[in-house]
Amino acid sequence: MDATIVSKMQKHYPVLLNEIISVISPQHGGTFIDCTFGQGGYTKKILEFENTNVIALDRDIESAKIANQLKEKFEDRFIFKNIKFSQLNNLKLKNENIKGVIFDLGYSYTQIKNPQKGLSFSDSGKLNMQMGLNSYSAEDVINKLDEKQLEKIFKFFGDEKEAKYISRNIIKERSRNKIDTKSLVEIIDRSKKRKNFKVHNATKVFQALRIFVNKEISELIFGLINAAKVLKKGGVLGVVTFHSLEDKIVKYFFKSLSQNKSISRYSPVVKQADTLFNLIQKKPITPTDEELSENPPSRSAKFRYAIKKTDFYNFDTDILDQFGNYIEVENYGDKL
Ligand SMILES: C[S@@+](CC[C@H](N)C(=O)[O-])C[C@H]1O[C@@H](n2cnc3c(N)ncnc32)[C@H](O)[C@@H]1O
Repeated sequence: MDATIVSKMQKHYPVLLNEIISVISPQHGGTFIDCTFGQGGYTKKILEFENTNVIALDRDIESAKIANQLKEKFEDRFIFKNIKFSQLNNLKLKNENIKGVIFDLGYSYTQIKNPQKGLSFSDSGKLNMQMGLNSYSAEDVINKLDEKQLEKIFKFFGDEKEAKYISRNIIKERSRNKIDTKSLVEIIDRSKKRKNFKVHNATKVFQALRIFVNKEISELIFGLINAAKVLKKGGVLGVVTFHSLEDKIVKYFFKSLSQNKSISRYSPVVKQADTLFNLIQKKPITPTDEELSENPPSRSAKFRYAIKKTDFYNFDTDILDQFGNYIEVENYGDKL
């Protein structure tokens, strides 16, 4: 996470920008969908090339301010929609030649630093964590879900080994007082037997809550499926991830749709259906030493991409079977 950051000189820093531009090749023109507009780092670069158009999405309405400035400059070449990228199949596309769909997951530096978003354990005040277009906040989650549900959230999305004690102590504490950021950090500190001196004790629980509040795993899975639908033949689907669960999902999606299913070597040879994607590179692209020194939070960034081989809109994928258990846990929030 913490994808794009403002460096020491307060310079906006879109992660892996050169690598992404070289893969999506906007110099040949075409329409690109920037699913995570943020501060517009990728979009601005694409629009520098002639004959390009960008459809940009962001769930955070704050992004509309920068989008409005770009609209003045680029007029019909640029459209901004304040929607979640899982909905990208609802864009009223008119058979545009979609040459690239890109995702830069996670949060921007501006979001992390905004105390009203309440994303960080060092913020004092209300637990929030809503990126935009949410139905509930972290405060609702912590104060309303039951012990077992909280335990699963911390385990599934934070890999928190002491999820059980933390959730038990949350339930005890909230029967006396409403839990806010400060009291949640105190509960986690008290609950953890194994102290980690390198990483803050609350890191994993806070990561889990952010993923849960924003339904990040469901967003990613449905975003990938819909992106693969709208892309045209030869178009690139590219994703920058920031934690291992996101990367695992993207890796699986690309691999499963670029490989013919293995069949028994004893079965008769059958002609297999063609695959949806061409996976040029199995390993992810990571930041150069130069980028790492200018923008240290880019260290966990991984960029994977695949090229669509056909114009098919519909295709089969088993990604929902593979990762459906995460979606089930994220759906606990639907009753809040
Ligand atoms: C890391 S920032 C992107 C920065 C951007 N690449 C740039 O160069 O400025 C991620 C952005 O994606 C947005 N975002 C995250 N999940 C989203 C979703 N499911 N739908 C739409 N926007 C999302 C966040 O609000 C944030 O602004």
